[in-house]
Amino acid sequence: LDNGLALTPQMGFNNWNATQCSADFNEGMVKGIADLFVSSGLKDAGYEYVNLDDCWAEQNRDANGDLVPNRTRFPNGIRAVADYVHSKGLKLGIYSSAGTLTCANNMPGALGHEEQDARTWASWGVDYLKYDNCNNQGVDAIQRYTKMGDALKATGRPILYSICEWGSNQPWLWGKDVGNSWRTTGDISDSYSSMLSIVHQNMVLSQYAGPGHWNDPDMLEVGNGGMTDTEYRSHFSLWSVMAAPLLIGTDLRKASATTMSILQNKEVIAVDQDKLGIQGAPISTDGGRDVFVKRLANGDRAVVLFNEADSPQRITTSASAIGLPDAAAYTVRDLWAHATHETAGAIAATVPAHGSVMYRVAADRSWAEYPPAVDLGIG
Ligand code: GLA
Repeated sequence: LDNGLALTPQMGFNNWNATQCSADFNEGMVKGIADLFVSSGLKDAGYEYVNLDDCWAEQNRDANGDLVPNRTRFPNGIRAVADYVHSKGLKLGIYSSAGTLTCANNMPGALGHEEQDARTWASWGVDYLKYDNCNNQGVDAIQRYTKMGDALKATGRPILYSICEWGSNQPWLWGKDVGNSWRTTGDISDSYSSMLSIVHQNMVLSQYAGPGHWNDPDMLEVGNGGMTDTEYRSHFSLWSVMAAPLLIGTDLRKASATTMSILQNKEVIAVDQDKLGIQGAPISTDGGRDVFVKRLANGDRAVVLFNEADSPQRITTSASAIGLPDAAAYTVRDLWAHATHETAGAIAATVPAHGSVMYRVAADRSWAEYPPAVDLGIG
């Protein structure tokens, strides 16, 4: 959507994967996450949105038909939470469904209340809407999502619009002009098999992504305990090479140092956030040896060598296969080991089961410009 937002994929937090509708989801949590964004360096790393998911509202609208913040979770209302989040230099997101009820079936959806609800959110200072697909009464999806997009626009407040339609009506074909991102799959769960199946669905859609309009393979599970750290590094590498929204889905107040180091890997984040806005795609997947490539704004290529299989495998590619120009040498930066080596063209690694090696590869410019055969006369 051409609203000036999400020129690179949105980054932030959403409580759903960590809490669902449990009592942990409340004002204290949201403020605690905002505090941690600042104190732990996540804000500096680019994370910006603190997003509330389902169950933030009372079951019933008030006498005016307005949404009412859940009195137990948010006793001071959403405006107070937005003010707090804004005071930290961050942004607040909220959630609804393009249906009569949201997906947890315990708060009103916005179908038929689009303008009223959009005005409410704007008046509270909301900066982001995740708009779900439950209880949609069979009304046409494009119509429902466009209606809310128009209502958000009419508020005059910049509100990032995240379409959560699960890929049911091929939103990649119509989402570009309607929202800033669209879910391409059903819900992720905290397992390697779920993550892998989502990768397979999302990786074939790269042509539809670009600045302001992204494929969304769902929120991160990094840190939630159902995958190994090796698998979580793959999860984060793959989301980044696919230019996916990076929405942290773990309760950061309980996160391990390893979880924090995965989420804060600035060299990987830089691939996700690259200004060119290309979604990387696999150039080969033979035997579960996947080679993902993403062209970057400065001409470098990001590469993820992802081993889908249950035992270690050697995965190989080359500078020419990933689209780099001919050069005498290439610089290969390992974005997890934070180490650099040179190659004449071969790019390869032995990758553990379910693991990934992520590189940023550049044609070595000094060698390309000054081939060693030329005597530069400088000793
Ligand atoms: C749907 C969405 C999830 C989450 C839940 C909330 O399943 O896809 O991401 O928002 O609803 O109930």
